[in-house]
Amino acid sequence: MVTSESTDLNMEHQWLPFTPNRSFKKDPRVFVAAEGMHFTTHDGKQVLDGISSLWCVAAGHNRKPIAEAIKKQLDTLDYATAFQASNDQAFKAAEMIAAMAPGDLNKVLFCNSGSEAADTSLKVALAYHRGRGEGHRNVFIGRERGYHGVGFGGMSVGGIPANRKVYGSALLPRVDHMRFIHDPVNQAYINGVEPVWQEDILLELENRILPLHDPSNVAAVIVEPVAGSAGWYLPPQGYLKRLREICDKHGILLIFDEVITGFGRMGVNFGADYYGVVPDMLNFAKAVTNGVIPLGGVICTDRIYNSMMQAHSGAPEHAIEFFHGYTYSGHPVACAAAIATLDLFRQEQLFQRAGDMGKVLGDALHSGFKGLPNVVGIRALGLAGAVELSPIAGSPGKRAYDIFIECFHNGVLVRPAAENIVVCPPYIVEKEHIDRIVNVVADAIRKNA
Ligand SMILES: Cc1ncc(COP(=O)(O)O)c(C=O)c1O
Repeated sequence: MVTSESTDLNMEHQWLPFTPNRSFKKDPRVFVAAEGMHFTTHDGKQVLDGISSLWCVAAGHNRKPIAEAIKKQLDTLDYATAFQASNDQAFKAAEMIAAMAPGDLNKVLFCNSGSEAADTSLKVALAYHRGRGEGHRNVFIGRERGYHGVGFGGMSVGGIPANRKVYGSALLPRVDHMRFIHDPVNQAYINGVEPVWQEDILLELENRILPLHDPSNVAAVIVEPVAGSAGWYLPPQGYLKRLREICDKHGILLIFDEVITGFGRMGVNFGADYYGVVPDMLNFAKAVTNGVIPLGGVICTDRIYNSMMQAHSGAPEHAIEFFHGYTYSGHPVACAAAIATLDLFRQEQLFQRAGDMGKVLGDALHSGFKGLPNVVGIRALGLAGAVELSPIAGSPGKRAYDIFIECFHNGVLVRPAAENIVVCPPYIVEKEHIDRIVNVVADAIRKNA
């Protein structure tokens, strides 16, 4: 039995997700409490949360209004079935989310995670097209190094090779991927601006991918507005607008996976707002409850919803229009947490703060890391950024992993993503926290040179 030294944690039975379990158990990272910007570990250390606990804890840890709302909800309505019934909190949360979303994104399908949101959105796309008599539209297009969670749908449209490698035979068959949005030669260093590319990288979609499948067979294109999990890679200026135009031209639905960019990370409500492009579906999770309790969802346009209802106009009243849902879709406690979180965001103007602190972060990353050994790129936009390092020959990902471990030992949690170290602190971050993160990461980069 592996136990930690200062507490009696039995670590035999939890199989840790997306974690090297063997090395973790030799040097565990176990949190037992959190407040504001910091965790307390099982052995009593303070660790600065430089990644909002994986993009979730946008308002900082242990926010009382959210905890109070959850406690109140537990004492009022603990749970109610989501099928053939609903609850008041789900309606209120959906109303608030729809009000925040751009354009006619007004209908919220709740689920519990980003992975479920991805699969839900793909299923809506198929059902929508079929309802309109275009059931032949069943090709999905994602993007290389995209991440849409770990369900079979999300994995199939996702483009991170390690996540797909083992599951090849089980991935959806009619899927293609656009090329990645990174130019390491001309666009290695980006600070607070949209990169301008000379090349039009969507020509590949127009001239190769769509003709190959025939656009009339394509159900949807799904992208993250900013490629988050891959390591905060930013689309070229005009890319998403042009993608919208291409989709419109061919009747293809455009899905934005905003599990990371949603709810303020870019300094505005959604990536869609930042880039001025309204998708047909917008997937969210993570920050919507400040990470406190699982909740995700897909915001669909009125057009999609109305079309699905219209498709059943001749069906009997008791006929269900969309055979999909989760037992915990719109869970009242999760929705109460979302309502309190969204209120808190607004009361403290945290999205604006994220935008303001994003500039501080971008400047600090560039002045702190540029020129350090092995640094080959730094990208910052919104309240997030990444420093990219040259890989160790024959050991992909090891340098960033070693730097992540070193930072953790020095009291700062950052995220290794392939050859990147990603920083995306809670929106309540202060300059002193940013300086500390940058200093600790810079020391670790030097030490691992
Ligand atoms: C863009 C995107 N989509 C989907 C997911 C999957 O979310 P979850 O882990 O909640 O299933 C993530 C998680 O990081 C994500 O970044």
